[in-house]
Amino acid sequence: MNEEKNVNLTGQKLPVIKTEQLGKAYLLPDQQLLPVLNGIDFELKAGELVAIMGVSGVGKTTFLNILGGLDHPTEGRVYFEGQDLLAKSEAEMAELRNKKIGFVFQFIYLLPEFTAAENIAIPLIIAGLDKNQALSQARQALQEVGMDHRHDFRPAQLSGGEQQRIAVARALINEPKLLLADEPTGNLDWKTGETIIKLIAELHRRKGLSSIIVTHNEKIARFCQKSYLMESGQLKLFEGEEG
Ligand SMILES: Nc1ncnc2c1ncn2[C@@H]1O[C@H](COP(=O)(O)OP(=O)(O)OP(=O)(O)O)[C@@H](O)[C@H]1O
Ligand SMILES: [Mg+2]
Repeated sequence: MNEEKNVNLTGQKLPVIKTEQLGKAYLLPDQQLLPVLNGIDFELKAGELVAIMGVSGVGKTTFLNILGGLDHPTEGRVYFEGQDLLAKSEAEMAELRNKKIGFVFQFIYLLPEFTAAENIAIPLIIAGLDKNQALSQARQALQEVGMDHRHDFRPAQLSGGEQQRIAVARALINEPKLLLADEPTGNLDWKTGETIIKLIAELHRRKGLSSIIVTHNEKIARFCQKSYLMESGQLKLFEGEEG
């Protein structure tokens, strides 16, 4: 196999994520194909924070799920730090997701029967850390997202914004390289959403992440260095309105 290395011959850093001619069509129950993504060449460089916008149903979640190895493309290639994702086994993919990729979703999947601290500790326990150590790291992560005072609250006892803070802390607990956030503010009011985006942008900088935020909201996209618009299965750089 001819895998790229992290640094090429001229010493340039390779992108964290790269797609080549990525395509995705869903096979519907009536055997029709629903084309969604069509020949996407995309690159996320180390340290970049980018937004992906686009109307509902255009394929943003599909794209993010493929980048994070949660779904397979029907065409093209995906490289994570130069490694071909499609060449990995399910077990290798699960390990990469657990250690290198942090996910934040629109619908916050916290486990209801666990406390805030326990929810954050779960990825560490899955990665093999002892429970007490995992919980003590989770308490630190709670401080970073301004939620230590709620460490023993269960999700139902937290507001939507507070739950999303816990979800952000959980996404980052394994110190991933790549953060994928799918409409992290989608279910929050504008002001709460803005504080979540500011938190993500701050953690992005502080932890040296490479991050993609999917959002409907152009104001949210302004917190990112670059924005893309998804349209007709393609991604285009989006310049936004002047002024
Ligand atoms: N598992 C699936 N099987 C069949 N079609 C699917 C499946 N998942 C998504 N789709 C279709 O693919 C298209 C893109 O869906 P996707 O969820 O990626 O859109 P989106 O841009 O994230 O939309 P939204 O902004 O509403 O979240 C939609 O038309 C959807 O119906
Ligand atoms: Mg979506």
